[in-house]
Amino acid sequence: MNNGARPTEILKKEHEAVLGKLDNMERVIAQLDKREEIADKLKELAAFFKADFWVHFDKEEKALFPEFDNFMPRGAGPLAVMLDEHKVLRDTNAVMQRAIGSYLNHDDSSEVREKIRRNGSHFIETLRNHIFKEDNILFAMAEMHFEQAQNDKVVRLFAEIDKSKAG
Ligand SMILES: [Fe+2]
Repeated sequence: MNNGARPTEILKKEHEAVLGKLDNMERVIAQLDKREEIADKLKELAAFFKADFWVHFDKEEKALFPEFDNFMPRGAGPLAVMLDEHKVLRDTNAVMQRAIGSYLNHDDSSEVREKIRRNGSHFIETLRNHIFKEDNILFAMAEMHFEQAQNDKVVRLFAEIDKSKAG
């Protein structure tokens, strides 16, 4: 049993961890001229945003968001905005990851560094704003509308998603 844990509380905790990673990412991106010094840290952060992070999006898209169907249309309102932003974040991350890959592979040309800076900043800013909106608008709506049975179902699905990604 989950003792009535709310899915939004779980996601908010994950958001806190992600915001910490974004702060680190911002610091590292400000020092791209010191590749030797930052390479390990950058590699670790890029790996997080390449793989682990998307488990969080899966939880929202596959477990939490479908429960909004009872009271909010998919194609409009805050949910549609959140889904659009997920797409922007996926696309921006893909470009950022390619540039970081080149950089770590010994191409630290000004062009590659600029690409990391531009897409990295966009990713960081977009994700910070996105998390703020989820925490304060979307999740508040979930907390208001979801019944306990829905909360239990979503928390159960989270556990399944975690398990399937751990293997
Ligand atoms: Fe989120």
